[in-house]
Amino acid sequence: MASANIAEQYKQARPGSLKLHERAERLFPADGATHGARVLDPFRPYITHAKGSKKWDVDGNEYIDYGMGHGALILGHGHPAIVQAIQEQTAKGLHYSENQPLEVEWGELISQMMPVAERIEVCASGQEGNLMAIRIARTFTGRKKIIRFEENFHGWAGEVAPEGSAGVTMPEVTFLPMNDIAVVEKELASREYALVMIEGGGAHMAGQIPWEYDFIRELPLVTKKYGTLLLIDEVVTGFRESRGGWQELVGVKPDLTTLGKCVGGGIPVGAVVGRADVMEVLDPKRPAEKRIRHTGTWNANPIQCAAGIAACKLYLNGEPQKKAAEIGAYLREQGNKMLKEKKISGRLYGRTIIHLYLGPIEYEPSDPAFPPTRSLAQIINPAMIPIKNELCLRLLERGIATMGARFFVMSAAHTREDVDRTVAALASSLDEMMATGALKESLAGVK
Ligand SMILES: Cc1ncc(COP(=O)(O)O)c(C=O)c1O
Repeated sequence: MASANIAEQYKQARPGSLKLHERAERLFPADGATHGARVLDPFRPYITHAKGSKKWDVDGNEYIDYGMGHGALILGHGHPAIVQAIQEQTAKGLHYSENQPLEVEWGELISQMMPVAERIEVCASGQEGNLMAIRIARTFTGRKKIIRFEENFHGWAGEVAPEGSAGVTMPEVTFLPMNDIAVVEKELASREYALVMIEGGGAHMAGQIPWEYDFIRELPLVTKKYGTLLLIDEVVTGFRESRGGWQELVGVKPDLTTLGKCVGGGIPVGAVVGRADVMEVLDPKRPAEKRIRHTGTWNANPIQCAAGIAACKLYLNGEPQKKAAEIGAYLREQGNKMLKEKKISGRLYGRTIIHLYLGPIEYEPSDPAFPPTRSLAQIINPAMIPIKNELCLRLLERGIATMGARFFVMSAAHTREDVDRTVAALASSLDEMMATGALKESLAGVK
């Protein structure tokens, strides 16, 4: 629970949001929120519009946005090419319930950027893509079991839900610790596994808990050895971390890849892409028991395709990704300088999504995508949740909208001025939290 003063101050500056929150609480059971990441005590602001790196709430408060459509908007809000593509297509027709030329153009752009995308199956969300990938793998291999990794996020439903989620059963899913190839190989040796699935970059938003490079390079060799398919879930990282996704950065070729978020330019999207021989299980000429019939009202609808084409054309030269990574590096460097000056035990790390770690520093990693500890328990320390929530609230009060003070999603629209303001807001928020005792200078003792 955030300290009473800051919560009161926050509410007073947001009377319009408060009223909407009270109405929302009577409608939406998750504390009035419509997404788990939009829950905050007392509430997150109600936004009316956004442009570039900024968004504004019903009370006229301005925020530098580090949510960026839950990671989907690497071009920033309201990029003119995306707006134009959607507007033009809206006038031509929302949905033809037919094949249409845009889907072909979009598909060609995707496979041009991601060479492993020999075949593409489009759906409406990243999670749907993951569920489809599981079915494809099972139908192709004739096996049932799946390996997933602790903390890796793939959606909320059925077998892609987080480990231990209420209301789902996953008897055929085995969860393994991250970064231990021997454990994976031992499990795969049973030859019962259809699929190994990993989150691109690492667990949570492109790698709050990153994959070690040795592990990730050995993984495809081990899956191949035992006839298991490898899926990289690039729903967050696809066309964000580089033109060819995170797999291009690390030089790994999976059998299947799932995409979402950025690939649709901000319109709901999901896709499974991969090896032509594997994707053949969707061929309607196959016998019914050996094929998947895919339906889905929103698959490759014209608006999705038009926005997707406009976005992918901009991703082609790698410039937006480069810009997002450069501004991400600036936030990391400036933020870490500030944390060190204040002797706060914490670091910012990551590429186009910057993660804030507060806790003991075990070592100074040479790779900026890595946290200063290998301890999973420290990176996702539950004792940090109330501290991060309060920090998130204090940042919102200063016009900085983060994802729970855990993630800063960067875009090509963020500027150095945005980052300077952000680091100043982070510094004064942390100062206040230290003054009130909410945060200790040395976080090593937080349990
Ligand atoms: C790595 C990853 N996979 C899958 C999903 C699910 O995508 P969607 O919300 O589009 O269903 C998410 C959502 O954030 C994600 O981060």
